[in-house]
Amino acid sequence: MLGDDASARTALEASARAILEGAGYERIETPAFEATELFSRGVGESTDIVRKEMFTFTDGAGRSLTLRPEGTAPVCRAYVEHGMHKRRQPVKLWYTSSFFRHERAQAGRYRQFWQVGAEALGSDDPAVDAESIVLLAELLKEVGVRECRLRLSSLGGSESRGEYRERLQAHLRTHEQDLSEEVRSRIDLNPLRAFDSDHEATRRVMQSAPRLLDHLSEDDVEHFAQVRELLASANVAYEVDSTLVRGLDYYTRTVFEFTSAALGAQSGVGGGGRYDGLVARLGGPPTPGVGWAAGVERMLLAGDSRPAGVRSVELFVAFDPEANRRAAFGILAAARSAGLKAQMELGGRSLKGQLGHAKALLARYVAIVEGEETVLRDMEGGAQERLATDTVVHAVLRGLRTL
Ligand code: HAM
Repeated sequence: MLGDDASARTALEASARAILEGAGYERIETPAFEATELFSRGVGESTDIVRKEMFTFTDGAGRSLTLRPEGTAPVCRAYVEHGMHKRRQPVKLWYTSSFFRHERAQAGRYRQFWQVGAEALGSDDPAVDAESIVLLAELLKEVGVRECRLRLSSLGGSESRGEYRERLQAHLRTHEQDLSEEVRSRIDLNPLRAFDSDHEATRRVMQSAPRLLDHLSEDDVEHFAQVRELLASANVAYEVDSTLVRGLDYYTRTVFEFTSAALGAQSGVGGGGRYDGLVARLGGPPTPGVGWAAGVERMLLAGDSRPAGVRSVELFVAFDPEANRRAAFGILAAARSAGLKAQMELGGRSLKGQLGHAKALLARYVAIVEGEETVLRDMEGGAQERLATDTVVHAVLRGLRTL
């Protein structure tokens, strides 16, 4: 990460922080690696992430560790470990971290990538689902993600899902000969993932498959209806998509995904959902949760061309001759103490070279320190004045009207 890309990421992170902290989310950072079991248990043994995409290694003490492929299981682990259920609920946490998945790298899909994520634990109120989705919509709008769509569904609670799974498995077994090898091997473990298949014949089988949305319990139907009403009242457009299943096993009830047509094949820009059983599965008290994560690289790829950078050099301190380096260094320190964005010549350039360098940095003022006296040049209008060296910082502040 460097250059324009680094500035764009800094700006994106600032937007995420403003939006999420403004809504009461508190920053959390978890370790880059965790016990492998956290992910096999939390994300699910039958998922692609756990089956194929984890970077797992054994440490010197013989423990199996894994570079985090996602952030929800680690946040839930931290919630349990730090007794956060004793805090006022819901506990709202956000992160911007790097994650690791052993995938075939291509545009928008990397083995190390960054996510902004938000998790709200301790409440099953549909307003938490809706608020969470609205915040992601706001972030994507702020970043200028183009041709964005929101798909929404409900996977129901464990009860409705259990009954539905059996129906779906029966449907899949009836058409077993048409299914892809991959889907066939997962009929027992994870039949829902068949909806994600891009295998032509499997897709045809799935068109006539029973839909989970038609088999939700009354409570789940009501929860989903409330989430939709709240989204409508916040003017967030969405499409209900009964084929949306998401690739992680912990989801219950609400699931959602934002896609951007500007991204091509890897169109998922951010997604998430509710995971009411996850904290308990990791050994904590029964605790509902809902959240999302959005890929930083994908948001930037799908975002508007980046906003014009803010001026980063207000004063460039040049000096001539070499003997004035010390005085120049003193001015640099004084300028920074006064809050100015200041740089000085560090490359041994001639005076002409220094002025060229200051211009390339788009410096607003250049001070040419000549000993007791300094020439201060306003690079915008070209005006220049000769001043006592110890008044230069004051003059720049006045010129920038910060005094
Ligand atoms: P996920 O859908 O696996 O969900 O990832 C979220 C986002 O991370 C994706 O929409 C995508 O933008 C980005 N992403 C995923 N894999 C890659 C990759 N290999 N390269 C670049 N970007 C990638 C989760 O991770 C869940 N933890 C989200 C969540 C939070 N659900 C509830 N809370």
